[in-house]
Amino acid sequence: MPSALLVLASVLTVTTVALDNGLMRTPPMGWLAWERFRCDIDCEQDPKNCISEKLFIDMADRLSEDGWRELGYVYVNIDDCWSSMERDKQGRLQPDPKRFPGGIQKLARYMHDRGLKLGIYGDMGTHTCGGYPGTPLDKIKIDAQTFADWEVDMLKFDGCYSNSIEQAQGYPLMSKALNATGRPIGYSCSWPAYQGGLPPKVNYTQLGEICNLWRNYGDIQDSWDSVMSIVDWFFENQDVLTPAAGPGRWNDPDMVSVEPLYLDNDVSSR
Ligand SMILES: *[C@@H]1O[C@H](CO)[C@@H](O)[C@H](O)[C@H]1NC(C)=O
Ligand SMILES: *[C@@H]1O[C@H](CO)[C@@H](O)[C@H](O)[C@H]1NC(C)=O
Repeated sequence: MPSALLVLASVLTVTTVALDNGLMRTPPMGWLAWERFRCDIDCEQDPKNCISEKLFIDMADRLSEDGWRELGYVYVNIDDCWSSMERDKQGRLQPDPKRFPGGIQKLARYMHDRGLKLGIYGDMGTHTCGGYPGTPLDKIKIDAQTFADWEVDMLKFDGCYSNSIEQAQGYPLMSKALNATGRPIGYSCSWPAYQGGLPPKVNYTQLGEICNLWRNYGDIQDSWDSVMSIVDWFFENQDVLTPAAGPGRWNDPDMVSVEPLYLDNDVSSR
């Protein structure tokens, strides 16, 4: 009997291990720019839809004024194409000065003043998927510190322009680097999506220890077929995926049911 209890206790311990930053005990909810706004950087021709501080301020206003925040939609998340093409003189990432004239910290404070959180995007690799400066291994510490200095609350860490060996080093390193800043920053890893999403290539035990959230599968597109292909994949692989999830550690089907809700702020522009 005592040994049976011991086994049960150890099973429970193993299955509840999660990244120890206290965040995302329930699945994170909020809004992410990519699915609708992509890499639209043309603020002169398309000021309402371009990736700029105005877009994120607009979304923050919607979440806080229209009742979404009270339902739990608190993350306002920047995706790719926010940064300048060059790092600053100290080697830090910097936002595009024309599109984010107030800087990222001011945007984070805008969110915090409204009870919201700001997410940002980086990429484990030489470049982001959109061709902006990435975070290769030797830039992980400085980028984690920059995000913390800006008072960012969440990082989506994509995986374009890196190989599997660099990813296997970089994703755990970023987890450590974020922790070392002392600021709790939710950590979303795109790593498994680059490994095909399934064991044996993906180690979900390890992911749960280093990430709060992970993208398992392809990007959602603006079509029902895309939604269904994602739902089908999660259905087919539920025996692997369901046990991977728990408080502080979640599968992210890319905006289906879990993470960023897509808020159509401008139906007329469709
Ligand atoms: C860093 O990790 C330690 C040990 O897991 C944990 O106690 C601490 O809360 C973490 N800090 C942050 C800021 O995530
Ligand atoms: C998966 O990761 C866990 C935790 O880091 C480790 O203990 C285990 O050996 C890994 N499994 C495989 C098959 O590599």
